[in-house]
Amino acid sequence: MKTAQIRQKFLDYFESKDHTIEPSASLIPHNDKTLLFVNSGMVPFKDVFSGAGKRPYKRAVSVQRCVRAGGKHNDLENVGYTAHHHTFFEMLGNFSFGDYFKREAIHYAWEFLTKELNLPKEKLWVSVFEEDDEAENIWINEIGFPKNRISRCGAKDNFWQMGDTGPCGPSSEIFYDHGEHIAGGPPGHADEDGDRYIEIWNLVFTQFDKQEDGYLKPLVAPCVDTGMGLERLTAVLQHKNNNYDTDGFQSLIKAVVDLIPKSNNIKNDNASVRVIADHIRSAAFMILDSVIPSNEGRGYVLRRIIRRGIRHGHKMGIDKVFFYRLAPVLAVEFKGTYPELKQALPKVEKILKHEEQRFVQTLDQGMSLLEEAIISLKGSEIDGKTVFKLYDTYGFPVDLTADIARERNLTIDMLGFEIEMTKQRDRARQTGDFKISKKGVDISEATEFLGYEQLENVSSIQAFVKDGKLVEKIEAGGHGVVVLTQSSFYAESGGQIGDSGVLSNAKVEFRVGHTNKQKSGAFEHHGVLNKGVLKVGDAVQANVDKKSRKCITRNHSATHLLHAALRIVLGETVTQKGSLVDSEKLRFDFSHDEVITKSDLEKIESMVNRKILGNTKVHTDITNIENAKKKGAMALFGEKYGNIVRVLTMGKDDFSVELCGGTHVRQLGDIGLFRITSEGGVSAGVRRIEALTGYDAYQFDNQTQNSLNEIAQITKSSNVQVVEKVTQLIKQQKELEKQIAIFQKQLASNQGDDLVGQVQEVKGIKLLSTVVEGASGKDLRDIADKLKDKLGSVVIVLAVVNNDKVSLVVGVTKDLTKQYQAGKILNHVAEQIGGKGGGRPDMAQGGGTQPEHLTKALASVKSLI
Ligand code: ALA
Repeated sequence: MKTAQIRQKFLDYFESKDHTIEPSASLIPHNDKTLLFVNSGMVPFKDVFSGAGKRPYKRAVSVQRCVRAGGKHNDLENVGYTAHHHTFFEMLGNFSFGDYFKREAIHYAWEFLTKELNLPKEKLWVSVFEEDDEAENIWINEIGFPKNRISRCGAKDNFWQMGDTGPCGPSSEIFYDHGEHIAGGPPGHADEDGDRYIEIWNLVFTQFDKQEDGYLKPLVAPCVDTGMGLERLTAVLQHKNNNYDTDGFQSLIKAVVDLIPKSNNIKNDNASVRVIADHIRSAAFMILDSVIPSNEGRGYVLRRIIRRGIRHGHKMGIDKVFFYRLAPVLAVEFKGTYPELKQALPKVEKILKHEEQRFVQTLDQGMSLLEEAIISLKGSEIDGKTVFKLYDTYGFPVDLTADIARERNLTIDMLGFEIEMTKQRDRARQTGDFKISKKGVDISEATEFLGYEQLENVSSIQAFVKDGKLVEKIEAGGHGVVVLTQSSFYAESGGQIGDSGVLSNAKVEFRVGHTNKQKSGAFEHHGVLNKGVLKVGDAVQANVDKKSRKCITRNHSATHLLHAALRIVLGETVTQKGSLVDSEKLRFDFSHDEVITKSDLEKIESMVNRKILGNTKVHTDITNIENAKKKGAMALFGEKYGNIVRVLTMGKDDFSVELCGGTHVRQLGDIGLFRITSEGGVSAGVRRIEALTGYDAYQFDNQTQNSLNEIAQITKSSNVQVVEKVTQLIKQQKELEKQIAIFQKQLASNQGDDLVGQVQEVKGIKLLSTVVEGASGKDLRDIADKLKDKLGSVVIVLAVVNNDKVSLVVGVTKDLTKQYQAGKILNHVAEQIGGKGGGRPDMAQGGGTQPEHLTKALASVKSLI
């Protein structure tokens, strides 16, 4: 029976039992904030179970599309490692809303499986909740199911919950026994996790609605919610032990394999192929249901799935943008059930392609970083800083890094990662958050700011604060805070740093390091008295450091231009999240969900520079807030606006209009030049641009130019040809690397032949336990396979030492795996060299960090025979 027939048969059967067929709902649960995705057939009926909603029927049947990735039921990590898990699957379910209960639910399930589908009774196994005598009695006394094939299990297995809250109740599960040749035991047994007994149907006797405080609120009438994975049932009916071997996956798997270079010799049953076949299903259906990749919530689950899929593709040697190409294959596969997928293809492909194009830009670099970290690893845990860097700079979701680690028998340092995340959040919080000094004394009198128009003024000293106390005077050498009645110094605010400069008269000189503002508006000039004695009431000349102020002003005006350009190029959703303007640079944080492409960045930079060249006058208006808003002024965070506000307008046609208390250039040409020096993510959905202006920007260019000259010189080319030259050199290097790999392989393979001479016979068993000189860790497996073929019946332990790290491979020919399991032998050796590993009975891989014990460890294998 094909997947499509099974789907239909289920609907037909329950329709004949008076169930109303409900089409699958969207993957996005409506009116439910507690779930990311519909994770089972009952979710669309949640309100009916709880009594809040009504339907014109009391029995329903559906085939619901489900996603289990993120949230309570999360199978993402299992995909690729087990035969029966998916991120996306279809759930067959029949439901009773206060109508029938346990008895009918069990009878229907039994009849459908054994009569409609003709499953052999003796292949089935059943579990019930440990306290549920009623269900067990129905199985034994009414169905005639043998008691010795019923397991009573605890709440972990037989009490089903939709999520942390919502409908729940005890359940009874039906398992299918895939046969003795597969490892694993029945439910409730120690070895239940194998692939032999597979749960196919879960009958939930929904009796409660779990509340936020954990209270199990009884439902008015008990209900039934059942769920059977279509893919698992299909595997049973098609006599496959692996869902991915069923008909529904074949066209996808073929399409994936076709994308892989033939020389890599990758087959349909490769784990990465299966991961991709699974992930394209969830990714495409999520997009169909309007999820788009982003850095939070559902969008981030989608992003993680797509990126994980892409990484597996690259691992198998697919070197082009490929993931989106699978969407049309999927649409054909589902054309009967979900014709809308075909209609949505342009959108699905576009989003997938865009996401992949973005990720491949950083994937290779990220992988190199990770490989380096793995090579220099001491233990078996990848440190949190590396995991964070991969996440933050290279867009590697944490579970993607964990997935790679797992392939190498490594783990990741989650705690270390969380620490880095916290640090980053703190950094982001600090951005632009320039609070008024909490220490010190509050001066109630505000300082009058004169510094928009002039950079010097005379003022009398209103107060001194020293060590948090008001004092009458400061003497030479003393630090302190001077409060003036009037000041040309700008006090730190709205992201613009406070001014520095000098307060002086004939007898005194007070150097101001920075200036900030008290709540009252009094300016604090922080600094040190170089000479003389300064008393409250003395008059001083306040001179702002002109050079520094000029730079600050350039940077501030450029920030406004940048902000406007960002909104034009990236869209109106860009809003300011933080800003820092000082004399050296400007830093601008803003909300934006995506990496900014190089070409967009160039557009932004050139737009700002064109405005600078336009050299229009900067206008300042003092007006009321209504007028300002009418003019389209952008209000900035962190500034408190009274009714009267200051509006800065820059550029032709009001290119930038912002409310701002900061200081600015008179003409845009004063900015000189604008150069973006970096762009990157700060936290989820927030990006940061750093830039230079004026002479600093010129110097930055100069340095770049010098580096270019140097590269041209080193590569013996000219500035014009240097790119071509470097590209050529890299190409050459890649070719050389390829050749080296081929030579290495040849060398290793020859060595494989040489090794035959070292085989010894121990108690009639052929044993080869040795070091393979000159091989790479990757070659060992091939050599072991070759030797197994050659020698027919043998136990092989091969090791190689590279960079003080030992790689190990153990191979056992099939005839010997009953007596000697590769995994056990591997562990025996690995333990002696400070390492570990794992694998199948016939082939295991691992390593260690103590090559000095290797000879002894290899010799000790003999004692196992
Ligand atoms: N809602 C139940 C499950 O998903 C049937 O297993």
